[in-house]
Amino acid sequence: MERTLVILKPGVLQRRIAGEVLSRFERKGLKIVALRLRGLDRATVEAHYREHRGKDFYEKLLEYTLSGPVITAILEGENAVSLVRHLVGPTDVRESPPGTIRGDYAARTRLNIVHASDSPASAEREIALFFEPQDIVEWRDDNVSWY
Ligand code: CMP
Repeated sequence: MERTLVILKPGVLQRRIAGEVLSRFERKGLKIVALRLRGLDRATVEAHYREHRGKDFYEKLLEYTLSGPVITAILEGENAVSLVRHLVGPTDVRESPPGTIRGDYAARTRLNIVHASDSPASAEREIALFFEPQDIVEWRDDNVSWY
């Protein structure tokens, strides 16, 4: 089963919408297998966003990501990476349609509310950056048949 990493950025807790955002993923049928509320340190955020180093928005992106606590989660499901990317919507909020998380909650790309891994390879790297193997809880939902 595929896994992906999501980060609910500081604006989510500040706006008290953590439950609503997590609920989008759950309603789709994705399974939460790790979940943590925490403040991030600069080294971790720099490692996470290494591909954006040097871009004009990089420092502001770091500043925002470090501006308050975040929620990190690992979501599991068939094609979890692309399912979550579709629920989240395009990075550029001008292109995020209503019904997507960014489309419904974000008005500025820099403050685009959530991060989601963009490929299975990124997911693997990002999961290892934010979680230890023992943080992941494997659980079965054999008794429900609606997904
Ligand atoms: P995220 O999915 O977290 O990955 C990189 C982040 O950089 C992205 O979401 C946005 O928050 C930010 N970002 C990407 N492109 C731009 C841009 N053109 N202007 C401002 N911020 C950007």
